[in-house]
Amino acid sequence: MNDLIAPSILSANFARLGEEVDAVIQAGADVIHFDVMDNHYVPNLTIGPIVLRALRDHGIDRPIDVHLMVKPVDRLIKEFADAGATYISIHPEATEHPHASLGLIRGAGVKAGLVLNPGTSVGVLDALLDEIDLVLVMSVNPGFGGQTFIPASLEKVRAIRSRLNDHNREVRLEIDGGIKVDNIRAAKEAGADMFVAGSAIFGSPNYGETISAMRSALNA
Ligand code: DX5
Ligand code: ZN
Repeated sequence: MNDLIAPSILSANFARLGEEVDAVIQAGADVIHFDVMDNHYVPNLTIGPIVLRALRDHGIDRPIDVHLMVKPVDRLIKEFADAGATYISIHPEATEHPHASLGLIRGAGVKAGLVLNPGTSVGVLDALLDEIDLVLVMSVNPGFGGQTFIPASLEKVRAIRSRLNDHNREVRLEIDGGIKVDNIRAAKEAGADMFVAGSAIFGSPNYGETISAMRSALNA
């Protein structure tokens, strides 16, 4: 599958969110990564479906990749689907019934993702691979932007890639946390095909140059 670069708006200037999203799209973003945190499942509080709807109303038509770090999760799935999510990903630890939660996402016509924390083993995929369109490997612990990439994540990506290669259906493999120009290539070589980057893009002086440098590294 083609590589997708997904800037995380967690590191955007929230006072000018619409313009910031326009700017990263102009700069070459393929997907917009939308981090939802609840001060319960993770120790941080961000944005909800009203903000997603506002971005759609602003005219954003790129895919929006909603990463739900909330517990419980089920009630919010429909709200994010109705607000215009393209992907919705959930953490299996944040729901009593992951299989059912993934069914809610797909039932709403949205692509479903399962997120593996650094401490979550790959085995969680065993019973859920048929229910998902995306695996999201966290390469930091969820909760904050700007953390340091955990190198062991690459081994996990490799293990999942070999798993997905044996699967009868295409499933995206996304990596999230500490991705920069200088490690995005290693993530691709391990098997990722969707790359979240927050601080590396929104913290840089020129979004276009940073995304182009990432794409060159991917295509090198
Ligand atoms: C962390 C979030 C990430 C975060 C990544 O919980 O899921 O999406 O925005 O930020 P960086 O790229 O700065 O590590
Ligand atoms: Zn995220």
